[in-house]
Amino acid sequence: MDKIIIEGGRPLHGEIFVSGAKNAALPLIAATLLCPGEHTLYNVPDLKDIRTILVLLETLGITYHYPEPHTLVINSDHVEGYEASYDLVKTMRASVLVLGPLLARLGRARVSLPGGCAIGARPINFHMQGLQKLGAQLELEAGYVDASVKGRLQGNTIYFDFPSVTGTENMLMAASLAQGKTIIKNAAKEPEIGNLIDMLTAMGAKIDGRGGDILVIEGVAELKPAATTIIADRIETGTYIAAVGAAGGELTLRNCNPAHLPSFLEKMRAVGIFIEEKDTVLVAGRSGPIKSVDIKTMPYPGFPTDLQAQIMALMTCTNGLSVIDETIFENRFMHVAELQRMGADIRVEGGRAIVAGTGMLTGAQVMATDLRASASLVVAGVAAQGVTTISRVYHLDRGYERLDEKLRQVGAKIWREKE
Ligand code: UD1
Repeated sequence: MDKIIIEGGRPLHGEIFVSGAKNAALPLIAATLLCPGEHTLYNVPDLKDIRTILVLLETLGITYHYPEPHTLVINSDHVEGYEASYDLVKTMRASVLVLGPLLARLGRARVSLPGGCAIGARPINFHMQGLQKLGAQLELEAGYVDASVKGRLQGNTIYFDFPSVTGTENMLMAASLAQGKTIIKNAAKEPEIGNLIDMLTAMGAKIDGRGGDILVIEGVAELKPAATTIIADRIETGTYIAAVGAAGGELTLRNCNPAHLPSFLEKMRAVGIFIEEKDTVLVAGRSGPIKSVDIKTMPYPGFPTDLQAQIMALMTCTNGLSVIDETIFENRFMHVAELQRMGADIRVEGGRAIVAGTGMLTGAQVMATDLRASASLVVAGVAAQGVTTISRVYHLDRGYERLDEKLRQVGAKIWREKE
């Protein structure tokens, strides 16, 4: 197991190329199960979670290769397996994304229930209720959802109590091959959903309402493979902006999409970080002190929960008071205890964290507890005085491509050692 060591307190200067989005690549890879043929995905990030979903797809019968780095070719001619085992789902709950496409193509899917994870209970009841609405028979046995349908799924109207991201993605994939019209109300609007809609449309699906919270899918009998480019990772982009806000300096972020970070960029400007947006390039930096702001996580286009931990690390570097409300996940403050080890003054009251900025953190030994919590410790570490040692960084490798290397290229003193 690796640990990351950071000697903090150095401003960051230079250019970083942002990778493809993990949360877009996962559903797009799952979508290749929908029809036989050779599917090409460009800008695929090299991450542990991507390797995990490819292992899962291999157990179902697909083959894949990378003709060049970040270009993934998947052959899904033979899909015979229909099970996502507990061992895979427990390491990555996004494995549930195979439920919709397997059911639509094979009429059968058996997927382990994810159970709890570090940031909360994370049930999949919306996915299950949605598929039942489309005519699937669902049984729960031995910790698995066993879903089956005789013939094709049937279009219907689905209403989500909450705009679930992977729930919406599962319904989009299932409904694309259903008979008749499906309407998803209160659908999630995250940019990753738009990426999936673009891929499904290129495959021959008929989907209206892209970008809105009502999606209308006219099912088709057949889909064909298509080539699609994965969008830039908005969470990786935001993590570098938080890092430069905390450590100081100026970063040019290339291959990103500033339009996918509306609320985040507005907050960063309010913090005192200057931001310039030009197509796929974002320049962010600061020279003077930063101010505290209040944050409330919300579904897109609101402030992303996946950037809450990183912003909390940034807020500890101000001299003001910041109130951070986490409304998406009930237990997403695992990073608080670790930031406190670095001198942060944070009080948690239910889903609210109150951060009293201390101006400066000090390096300490800390532990990564989940993906975004790990990223917040890196943000804290590059800004802190002294040495920060982050153990259990496998969480970080699930969702950030070469984060330490990219930060080293812009002047951070950061390296890996074996634990
Ligand atoms: C996705 C992202 C994750 C991000 C999250 C919220 C992927 C692979 N992951 O996760 O990085 O943090 O969106 O933006 O894209 N819920 C239910 N029942 C369900 C489904 C969800 O109660 O069937 C609840 C969850 O517990 C949570 C909320 O709804 O409180 C949002 O979850 P959801 O949008 O589904 O998150 P994911 O799709 O799992």
